[in-house]
Amino acid sequence: MPADYVHGYSQREAQRLHDQAASVRDLLHHDTAFAPGELVLEPGCGVGAQTVTLAADSPEASFIGVDIACESAREARRLVGTRGLTNVEFASADIYRLPFREAQFDHVFLCYVLEHVPDPDGALASLRRVVREGGTITVIEGDHGSCYFHPDTPAARAAWKCLIDVQAAIGGDSLIGRRLYPLLACAGFREVAVSPRMIYADASRPALRHSFVATTITPMVEGAREQALAMGMIDEATWEQGIRELHAIPEGGEGTFCYTFFKAVARR
Ligand SMILES: C[S@@+](CC[C@H](N)C(=O)[O-])C[C@H]1O[C@@H](n2cnc3c(N)ncnc32)[C@H](O)[C@@H]1O
Repeated sequence: MPADYVHGYSQREAQRLHDQAASVRDLLHHDTAFAPGELVLEPGCGVGAQTVTLAADSPEASFIGVDIACESAREARRLVGTRGLTNVEFASADIYRLPFREAQFDHVFLCYVLEHVPDPDGALASLRRVVREGGTITVIEGDHGSCYFHPDTPAARAAWKCLIDVQAAIGGDSLIGRRLYPLLACAGFREVAVSPRMIYADASRPALRHSFVATTITPMVEGAREQALAMGMIDEATWEQGIRELHAIPEGGEGTFCYTFFKAVARR
């Protein structure tokens, strides 16, 4: 398990991944389906938050989810069991050293993984090896630079920026969404097609605003607290104020929030 993974592996983070997946399920998954009999690899599957959607939406395809964290893969296995899904297996594996044959998979699907690995080019080269000629890769990433909100206060903005800077300091790139096209093209994939998926929430959509801002985004920022303070990026008072102000967005009548995910599909 990598010690420097910005979000960590707590129960709270596992729940956040499930909440995040649920709040943007249709936005991100509505156009993904795999044909009967096809074999799909999901690297960095985490606790299975995307896997259950993939497996349910393509019940006649088969999936192998892998994660570098054994406990996450175990948790994912438990989850698909409780959902009665029988078309998924899990294993623990490093995206750079996949224990699979060349061209073993028809497709690869990964979500919120490249932003955390120190060498996304190397990860894509490793994934390209295991996809058959003509198969596809689907990559979903966020881009924290695409986020804006109202009220836009200096402290809330400073706390948000800490998340970007902490992730960068430990070798990740939370601004990777905008780089998906060049990354995939340079890795040798063809027919690269990237579509931005914007989520916008205001008081007219209170459920979406709550699930996205209160249970997904703000807890993600809060997860960077210790590292941001230890790295001297922000003082404690500004941090606490910023977090309070982020939490207030889904509570008040005037709070709005906007964020863009990027979904790329390309062919081997
Ligand atoms: C933000 S989580 C996303 C999990 C899941 N894809 C989702 O959308 O809920 C990133 C995952 O990538 C995994 N990961 C990080 N580095 C990895 C590596 N080198 N090989 C495999 N998985 C890795 C982490 O353990 C974590 O579970």
